[in-house]
Amino acid sequence: MSMPVVREFMKRHLPSMSALAALTAALDAHASSTPLEPRVAARIDDLLRAMGAGDVLGGLSPEEARPLVAELRLWFGLDGKLMQPKGRVPGWTHSEPELLQTVGDFAVMHAHGLTRDIAPQLEGLTARLAAPDASFLDIGVGVAGTAIQMARNWPNLRIVGIDPWQPSLALARANVKQAGLADRIELREQLAEDLPDEAAFDLAWMPIVFMPQGVIAAACARTLRALRPGGWVVLTPSGFPPDPVGAAQIRLRMTMFGGPECTTGDVEQWLRGAGFADVRTLASPPASPVAPVVGRRPTS
Ligand SMILES: C[S@@+](CC[C@H](N)C(=O)[O-])C[C@H]1O[C@@H](n2cnc3c(N)ncnc32)[C@H](O)[C@@H]1O
Repeated sequence: MSMPVVREFMKRHLPSMSALAALTAALDAHASSTPLEPRVAARIDDLLRAMGAGDVLGGLSPEEARPLVAELRLWFGLDGKLMQPKGRVPGWTHSEPELLQTVGDFAVMHAHGLTRDIAPQLEGLTARLAAPDASFLDIGVGVAGTAIQMARNWPNLRIVGIDPWQPSLALARANVKQAGLADRIELREQLAEDLPDEAAFDLAWMPIVFMPQGVIAAACARTLRALRPGGWVVLTPSGFPPDPVGAAQIRLRMTMFGGPECTTGDVEQWLRGAGFADVRTLASPPASPVAPVVGRRPTS
């Protein structure tokens, strides 16, 4: 590509980048009920209108806007790291507290998806999560965004969150303490493939897109053993959009996340191989682009 061609490429795509940043500002103002400075608000409005998103806030509640803000900040934060040499290392090695916290803010959405959309579709799970001895395993607990929201959604639920990444665990400890949930959420520096628990959990969440391919078989086997008979595991594979641009973007993300490129069919096969029963792919929850794959520990 010659310089003019690169410039032309940039000229074509920079408005999209600015529009997403402007959209983040507009959504954030809406979510936090903090009006934008009027001159900035007018320009943001112009740009969104010109990009065909003039009425983007119409009909959206502040609660609905909040996870969208977290998601946009998350993608800007992660993609922005590609611009610096230090940020181009594949795998989950982020140590910036703000970025890790943004990931946790977005991950609250997983707790809502598990609670509202996924649990009601899995036989016996809603009753189990409401029971006095209910127990949830959050693999890759990060800064505990998902774990804290699950504890809030299910008042009886005890949670074990595991993660090998110390920078996230340090934030998780502070977040759990601040939420007043230290007696219900146990945090461990641990890998899924080293899980020692047996028949301890009703539900396990496995963030497969961040886990190296080589550990997945062992992680599935340990998770199966850690579930109570009849307990469920939920995984969300990367998913591949049919268009080449979307697919290439996901491949870049998966490489940076450190996880495998995988279809729902691959994940179903891994779960069956580990001994899970009732393995199937659910429809994507409304707030998520990804279809979860589930499996159950056999009861006998
Ligand atoms: C995007 S983060 C999860 C965010 C989290 N739900 C939150 O609320 O912050 C994915 C996590 O998976 C962890 N991870 C990667 N490989 C793992 C493994 N083999 N076992 C357990 N956790 C792992 C990473 O360290 C990372 O913190």
